[in-house]
Amino acid sequence: MPKTLAKKHTEGKPRSKKHGLTEAQIAVHWKEEAYIRPPARFIAQANLNDNYALERFSEKNFPECFREYAELLHWDQYWHTTLDTNHPPFWKWFVGGRLNVAYNCVDRHLAKYKNKAALIFVPEPEEENHIVITYQELYRRVNEVAAVLQGFAGLQKGDRVTIHMPMIPELPITMLACARLGIIHSVVFGGFSGEACGLRAADSGSRVLIYVDGYHRNGRWVDHKVSADIAVETAKKEGQVIDKVLVWKRYHHKYTSDAPMIMERDFFIDDILKDYRNAVVPPVSMEAEDPLFLMYTSGTTGKPKGCQHRTGGYLAYVTGTAKYYQDIHPEDVYWCMADIGWITGHSYIVYGPLALAATCVIYEGVPQFPDAGRPWRIAERLDVNIFHTSPTAIRMLRKAGAEEPKKHNYRFKHMTTVGEPIEPEVWRWYHEVVGKSEAVIVDTWWQTETGGFLCTTKPALDPMKPGSAGPACLGIYPIIWDEEGKEVASADHAAGNICIRNPWPGIMQTIWGDPHRFVEQYYKKYNKNAQSKDWRDWPYYAADAAVLPPDGYYRILGRVDDVINVAGHRLGTKELESACLTIQEIAEAAVVPVVDEVKGRAPEIYISLKPGVLPKKQIIEKVTSTIETMIGKIARPKRIHIVPDMPKTRSGKIMRRVLAAISNHMDTGDITTLANPDIVEQVRQIVQGREIMPLNEGPEDIKLFGDER
Ligand code: PRX
Repeated sequence: MPKTLAKKHTEGKPRSKKHGLTEAQIAVHWKEEAYIRPPARFIAQANLNDNYALERFSEKNFPECFREYAELLHWDQYWHTTLDTNHPPFWKWFVGGRLNVAYNCVDRHLAKYKNKAALIFVPEPEEENHIVITYQELYRRVNEVAAVLQGFAGLQKGDRVTIHMPMIPELPITMLACARLGIIHSVVFGGFSGEACGLRAADSGSRVLIYVDGYHRNGRWVDHKVSADIAVETAKKEGQVIDKVLVWKRYHHKYTSDAPMIMERDFFIDDILKDYRNAVVPPVSMEAEDPLFLMYTSGTTGKPKGCQHRTGGYLAYVTGTAKYYQDIHPEDVYWCMADIGWITGHSYIVYGPLALAATCVIYEGVPQFPDAGRPWRIAERLDVNIFHTSPTAIRMLRKAGAEEPKKHNYRFKHMTTVGEPIEPEVWRWYHEVVGKSEAVIVDTWWQTETGGFLCTTKPALDPMKPGSAGPACLGIYPIIWDEEGKEVASADHAAGNICIRNPWPGIMQTIWGDPHRFVEQYYKKYNKNAQSKDWRDWPYYAADAAVLPPDGYYRILGRVDDVINVAGHRLGTKELESACLTIQEIAEAAVVPVVDEVKGRAPEIYISLKPGVLPKKQIIEKVTSTIETMIGKIARPKRIHIVPDMPKTRSGKIMRRVLAAISNHMDTGDITTLANPDIVEQVRQIVQGREIMPLNEGPEDIKLFGDER
């Protein structure tokens, strides 16, 4: 991982220059790693083992190359136009085609696989038995829930539903029930607060929320239903009335929450289901371009944006990439430890793997509960052979039990890492100890917006290189540009902004309700002709810094915008700052990323107080509790500093870059142009030397995925 943060300062000016180099350029100082070849045994059985794939997906075959992915699906009606570029950058994929996602992920597998496990649920308490749901049972349950959504909740195609649920099988079942009817689901990560859920529900215009009473997490029972009441209130304040809250019970025979059920608003799904036993709901034949789901993610403003994903292109892309890069076959047992509440879980727990008739493991809890041997016991017991997790989880498991995997008799053929850059030494532990030097590893770089993988090695064809995501995926043509739009070539040995020159089927359609922001955020930066209908004029700006060595293996350095990647999860600095500013005593707030041994990055907060307000410990406590309430414990800051003033430009903008340098014990660079250069030393003293306030204790209690709930 680069020592220097490839962080663009937020003042909208070109990056600070030091000896003529940008910050991102300075970051490029690692050594190249040796290649590791994929094992012959893996190659022999791989889904993608012909070198002609590169030719098939070459630029001259674009966009028709993506038929190969779409043809993995069942279409009710074949498409007439593979890519319609009439309204850039609002691309349309597989136009004229019709299909249903639930049909593709469930119904079509019944003929061959109805008695095969589709989902295996592993409860966190180790004494509880696993629950196996076959494709036949999944079919039944998806139909019944669809009948409830349609018959009881009155939902239909195009309506939005917000689902705030943890890792239990009812979550994918509910998602698939929505997909069966063309209801657009918006799953909010279970670890987010009720308030965060309510804001997202309001933005999406959901009038139905779906919850569970509670769940097990890190040895504790989390009362989740209490969040539902907060979510409903928050949505109401935003002008969105939630008229029904449908509540699953974690244990079907009992309700386990202190929150009362509100008459005529809250309903137990398990009770309603009794009226819909064995109901069969025909899958709604959707147009390829109908939206499938929204996934809210953090960006450069305080308000999370709803990434809107399409039906046909998205399913085609995640199915094709799950098949080729994760090497999923129907006979595999696949376990992805991510949460379904993030894009990884949508694409590579639910939609891609199920479209391929895989057996997917869903684990309720944290990987180190009750100890760091748990994942390997699960893997052995279920004979998992494809494993998928994040660098944060790998670092954590390595720290807590470096020898644990060796004690267990499982055999992975394939492992994925996703979400953040992985340090070569952590990669090697993953390979040698977790993978027992037998598993192939793919380091997949992508984003919520992109639907599926963008850069990774092709597991049977490309050698692995620790710490580098790898070449572009098939049909993806990246380019690295500097701030002025000049290409940064591999020979330059420098970093720049990675962009994708072409559209692909997995890319989001738009930002829900905000097409203007969609264009501004992802396409405006390098578009030279706003009138052009040629896709070549509309490169996708990913907001990540990257470098390209001569071998074509992209190495991703991290975000260049106001997003902090904490344990592989995105937090918008503006969201945290807005939360701080709701505290009466606070005049200004700035959030910066600080390097963290386990989580990759963690947020550190600087606050200055209104005149006359004394710096007190209670203010620091208020900051933590406000962030937990407004966003969730996942966003707890690593440290909070009360400073007399912020370093500012002459126009009064806070120089977060300078604060980030102080937090990370780095050179602040040139500060002579600041309006108040003297403050920098004072702030440094406060942060690095003498503390004027006791540090906020507690947030350093790291949990996997940075998520304490
Ligand atoms: O900075 C990149 C980092 O995660 C960001 C996307 O976060 P999110 O939308 O939450 O999606 C995470 C799961 C796809 C990216 O902008 N990132 C993702 N994968 C990698 C990565 N950084 C380095 N290497 C990766 N493999």
